[in-house]
Amino acid sequence: MKTYTIALVPGDGIGKDVTEAAWQVLQTAAKRGGFALEGTSFPWSCVYYLETGTMMPPDGIETLRKFEAILLGAVGWPAEVPDSVSLHGLLLPIRKTFTQYANIRPHRLLPGVQGPLRSEGFDILCIRENTEGEYSGAGGRVHSGTADEVAIETAIFTRTGVERILRFGFEQARGRRKKLASVTKSNAQKHSMVFWDEVTREVAKDYPDVEVSPYHIDAIAARMVLAPESLDVVVASNLFGDILTDIGAAIQGGLGYAASANINPDRSAPSMFEPVHGSAPDIAHLGIANPIAAIWSGAMMLDHLGEGEAAAEVMSAIESVTARGIGTVAGNDNTETITRAVVAALS
Ligand code: IPM
Ligand code: MN
Repeated sequence: MKTYTIALVPGDGIGKDVTEAAWQVLQTAAKRGGFALEGTSFPWSCVYYLETGTMMPPDGIETLRKFEAILLGAVGWPAEVPDSVSLHGLLLPIRKTFTQYANIRPHRLLPGVQGPLRSEGFDILCIRENTEGEYSGAGGRVHSGTADEVAIETAIFTRTGVERILRFGFEQARGRRKKLASVTKSNAQKHSMVFWDEVTREVAKDYPDVEVSPYHIDAIAARMVLAPESLDVVVASNLFGDILTDIGAAIQGGLGYAASANINPDRSAPSMFEPVHGSAPDIAHLGIANPIAAIWSGAMMLDHLGEGEAAAEVMSAIESVTARGIGTVAGNDNTETITRAVVAALS
């Protein structure tokens, strides 16, 4: 039987609840699909940091490299560990070191989920650059603590980085409605964003069948609220994509439905699958977190592993559950109820 090795990193807060939920569903899907998922769990988290002084052991990255995929819950417990420490010690190094340059986030309403907009027929795939840009981490501070203090954070855009994320976006658009929105702010940022626009035009020549529209970040932010059905694939830099995908989560009914995949398209290292909602300290340990975003991320993992049929079955199971109103009203159903319903819909 085909066996896939999966590293489980539940992390902090509700990350633990939703990873466990997703894992139950994935195991059911694997049984039905005639393949096996062999999970190895790692306790790397803020709790681990408080015990050991690091978010993961020094060979953590090399340990993860041996797996075929990583399923992550959430990282962060700001009351005890600053986010700048926890995220730079675990989540961000995984994305960068494993060249998971494409952060994919689907935004559409699941059946039965009430979004805040009148428009319901949208289906957007945001593709966020995930390794460089505004989040490169290049910069520093001088004259710290004085009135002359300076903080510099430099955005880095490389031809390799910009070209590959756009190419990835065009490929995705080809498999969908063949429309690509390229997001910049080239009217104000005259170096990096003018460069991004240029590379978009160059890469577009290889995809004459895809309709390309350049948007400024401010304009597309409004469009995602006012006319989301006009958008298909949206490609954006790290910061812009980060912000747009929170709008995407909001219009799809909230972070509880926002799934994501951090993809290394060359498959030279594992890809990582995670819900977008974070550790949600306010509802941690209560067993009421909505596991749908994590389960959906798990479906994206199955798809990436080549188990497209099982992935589609998981998505249908989620949809049949939300269509019946389970997991669609905050506070009505707990994690276990929703998970059981999805498992039952699968089996
Ligand atoms: C996300 C998150 C992270 C990011 C944070 C926690 C660093 O907001 O995945 O969108 O910005 O990448
Ligand atoms: Mn974010």
